Amino acid sequence: MNEQLNTLHTTGLAQLSGAANLEDLEQVRLNYFGKSGQVTQLLKSLGQMDAETRKTQGAEIHKLRETLQTAFTSRKDALEQAELDSKLAQEKVDITLPGTAHTTGKMHPVSATMIELAEILGRMGFGHAVGPEVETDYYNFSALNIPAEHPARQDHDTFYVETKDEEGLRKVLRTQTSNVQIRHLQNNPAPARIVSFGRVYRHDYDATHTPQFHQMEGLAIDKDLTLGHLKGTIQKFLNDFFGREVTLRFRIHYFPFVEPGLEVDVAWPIDQKADEKTRWLEVMGAGMVHRNVLAACGVDHTQWQGFAFGAGIERLAMLKHGFNDIRQLFTGRVDFLQSYGQLAAKLTAK
Ligand code: DAH
Repeated sequence: MNEQLNTLHTTGLAQLSGAANLEDLEQVRLNYFGKSGQVTQLLKSLGQMDAETRKTQGAEIHKLRETLQTAFTSRKDALEQAELDSKLAQEKVDITLPGTAHTTGKMHPVSATMIELAEILGRMGFGHAVGPEVETDYYNFSALNIPAEHPARQDHDTFYVETKDEEGLRKVLRTQTSNVQIRHLQNNPAPARIVSFGRVYRHDYDATHTPQFHQMEGLAIDKDLTLGHLKGTIQKFLNDFFGREVTLRFRIHYFPFVEPGLEVDVAWPIDQKADEKTRWLEVMGAGMVHRNVLAACGVDHTQWQGFAFGAGIERLAMLKHGFNDIRQLFTGRVDFLQSYGQLAAKLTAK
């Protein structure tokens, strides 16, 4: 018996210290301490021994079990440590390497400009209205005092779609956001004070025109509105938008849906560094709402009057940020956005 214990002792210790990794070690453990492991068997055999043998053998067997168990634990610790060391060595991080840069996304200048204008006009009491981009001939033209055959229709380079409206006329991709004036006034009784932003479409393409662009449309209807209110409103929101007191010129211009109609020019520095020299840049159209337009909306022109204004968003964004080709806005280039986009946080913080 003692010889058997001695052999178990030596081979056990040898096998434990010879285990090359944790898996091997587990095999060795099972071999001795598993359900039918050799030490387990010995412990089980204690029950069949007579009291005398058990006394002497029992102590020996327990000693062996303890020795092997201690050897197992220390081998396990050593192997675990070795495994960790090699993992750490493999996963060594070179903190001198350049890191992966995470750039912050920016909002497209067109979106940012629309949000900014909505905020400025919102503070001045203008609510927000929307209208469809696929529009009927009536809302895009006729109701705005541009009947069929009116020469103003020629200025619009209109895109037509296959779908026809109730009058059998082909629908259009709206050429202006002025359609929202009509839709709003037909659905909401006067007074009105709204601004609308959205895409418009014209068959045109060069450095200052793209077939799809964005416009802003403002409308104010009340009992006592005058051209003075129109001028004051435009002056205030352009000042706020450009962040300085801008010099404006209101120039008489024909738009069918207003009377009188105006074009608004901004005195723009020719050279940003020496800003005494300026030239006039047209930024928007405006005027007092035409009585025919009020009539089309069922608004009594002897009771109500008001003004409207419309501007191209890209134009305003280009002036403010100083780039001169509108097509840059629609290339989808990340480097362009990084330069001219705006941080959303900065926008809302203002
Ligand atoms: N709808 C005009 C355009 O697309 C812009 C415009 C001019 C809008 C005068 C207005 C206005 O509301 O009063 O060119």
